[in-house]
Amino acid sequence: METSVSQPINRVDGPLKVTGRALYTAEHPVPNVAHAVLIMSTIPKGRAASMDTSAAGKSPGVLRVFTPFNAPKLPPSPSGGSPTSRKLNLLQDDQILYSNQPIGLVLADTFENATRGAELVHIRYAPQPFNVVLDKDLNSAFTPEKAGAGGDPANSSRGDHQAGVAAAAAYSEHLYTTPIQTHNPMEPHATIAVWEGSKLTLYDATQGVFSDRQRVAQVLGIPPEDVRVISPYIGGGFGSKGPTWSHVVLAAVAARELNRPVKLVLTREQMFGAIGFRGRTHQTVGLGSSSQGNLTAIRHDTIDQTSSFDQFVEPCGLQARMLYPSPNAHTTHKLVRLDLGTPSFMRAPGECPGNYALECAMDELSYSLKLDPLALRLKNYAEEDPEKKRPWSSKSLRECYRAGAERFGWSKRNPAVRATPEGHYLVGQGMATACYPARRSESNAIATLRPDGTALVEAGTQDLGTGTYTIMTQIAADAIGLAPNQVTFRLGDTDFPKTPVSGGSQTAASTGSAVKMAGQALREKLIQLAVTDPASPLHGLGAGDVTIDGGNFVSAANPRKKESLAALMARHGQNEVSATADAKPGDEQDRYSMYAFGAQFAEVRVDMDLGEIQVSRMVGAFAAGRILNTKTARSQLMGGMVWGIGMALQENTMVDPRRGRVVNANLAEYHVPVNRDVPAIEVILVHEDDPYVSAVGAKGIGEIGNTGSAAAIVNAIYHATGKRVRDLPVTLDRLI
Ligand code: MOS
Repeated sequence: METSVSQPINRVDGPLKVTGRALYTAEHPVPNVAHAVLIMSTIPKGRAASMDTSAAGKSPGVLRVFTPFNAPKLPPSPSGGSPTSRKLNLLQDDQILYSNQPIGLVLADTFENATRGAELVHIRYAPQPFNVVLDKDLNSAFTPEKAGAGGDPANSSRGDHQAGVAAAAAYSEHLYTTPIQTHNPMEPHATIAVWEGSKLTLYDATQGVFSDRQRVAQVLGIPPEDVRVISPYIGGGFGSKGPTWSHVVLAAVAARELNRPVKLVLTREQMFGAIGFRGRTHQTVGLGSSSQGNLTAIRHDTIDQTSSFDQFVEPCGLQARMLYPSPNAHTTHKLVRLDLGTPSFMRAPGECPGNYALECAMDELSYSLKLDPLALRLKNYAEEDPEKKRPWSSKSLRECYRAGAERFGWSKRNPAVRATPEGHYLVGQGMATACYPARRSESNAIATLRPDGTALVEAGTQDLGTGTYTIMTQIAADAIGLAPNQVTFRLGDTDFPKTPVSGGSQTAASTGSAVKMAGQALREKLIQLAVTDPASPLHGLGAGDVTIDGGNFVSAANPRKKESLAALMARHGQNEVSATADAKPGDEQDRYSMYAFGAQFAEVRVDMDLGEIQVSRMVGAFAAGRILNTKTARSQLMGGMVWGIGMALQENTMVDPRRGRVVNANLAEYHVPVNRDVPAIEVILVHEDDPYVSAVGAKGIGEIGNTGSAAAIVNAIYHATGKRVRDLPVTLDRLI
């Protein structure tokens, strides 16, 4: 019986967090730990001709200074190609490929002494010419092999674009741009490396303990079994803690050299450049339609940035392939090499900026056709995946549109632009579609019944702060037949069963399925024990006639025949009973197209004189399969919608083209929404049953919240003011 899943129970790790007992990476007490501070390059390209470490070496407390001139040599490791095997900066040569690149490491007895030591290292640079401006070098754009980590082709072509344009009553094309954006999780990246003989333990702020172990072992040239990664609590990742970055390996190398545990924590400034970011995007979107609003042509051409030494694609065009059933749809992705760090996964990579451009273009089309923006979406509702010609595993977007519009009061909106003044403000309302793929990977879990009748369930996985502990506890409780407070779930450790990275919104579907299957397997084992135990009141019943409910075996036919799990365990000599599961996706991923969908609505108030924009209301309606905890789900979706505010109005990593450096590498000048910027946000969870997507029926909600939200806000600004700004963020200088 499923009594716990979906319930809005509080976070099981909440009390630990609010009392400070949940230890984040840098807080793990490790005796005799030395503190490491990175030295970062201050030029974007060239060489470190020399590094004078004499003053640093004599500074109080300093233990060692590593530079490219004395750092231990590492075995050559594969680099480039896949984003999870990208080139790291490990002090193996004097090359500088971007500003804020690690080029040295100072170790000291305290963080303060290490920081002082790092300041005293004098670097003489041999600079070289560089370019950090995407727009300056668009002609050098090249086509990458794939559009993103999912393996989608870089280009796609359906039908005939020219024919679609010729058939259109209206066709228009516009350029939309989004700036470099930086993740900025509250918890900085941090690593503590501890060697015991040949065995390495890493406390690491990572979204993937197993991929982290694999990568570190590969770079150090040691067996993965010799590396244990521990990461019980993470203060946000948003993709930046997905790949393993240079500082993790450097901490391990330094600890080995020093023969002492080493702690390395990045400063906020160091988090701008060396650990990924969302690159700038140039997106040309063209839409053609009949006079009735049926799309006849879609074109979505993206140019974005990669580094001089590695490849990452922000796959902005993927939704243009599947969201609307135009018979003609063409997408391309190209890259320009810049002398900046390699961009990386950032919450809804591709879908977030891509959906922004596509959904603004849809809004523009609706006005030129004098059609309601929502009506235009409904006219172009894809009943199957138009690109792959496959059915959806489930799609409840129509219900999202309906429920969101109703709650928002969309039908009361005056369709005319710049027509809703309120005192000193112009009020506007906009909407957009949200969409994110439902992904799933192989995952394992183990469920163990303890002698007292409670269960311990373990899987390697991660909790980025979103509620993994809580939903896994709920899933396990239902699968075994216990109450949630009878289950302890542990995660964040490579000693637990193998699980995938917490990226691509896949943790709930992947590891949730493994936890459910392990719990069910444990339940079956326990029932077998009960019905074959002569001392049990359930003895002799068929296994199918016995259930476990609230920690008791119960006969289905005669509910008075029951016995607690603890009683059975007592007769079995206090032994634990365990069951494992290996949950793999099947061929459903080839038979169905699987996506979560949503509808975002926003209202803005724009100061008539100053152009200041306040988002005054947001409603998001989402259908993402089974919702495993309506409270944590609501929070996560709301967080995604808040990201939309930041993207639409604030976030902008500014690079000085003359010096190649980020000039706002701090939270005072890199603006993210604060409480004052965030209005009342309503999240509607649209009921959806999906029998195909995963064993728990969940699609994942980590990223869909920040697809469509920026477009809804920008579309609302147009409705309020009559001014279309296509370059993000929409700051007041762009609006006046
Ligand atoms: Mo997410 S950007 O897939 O961690």
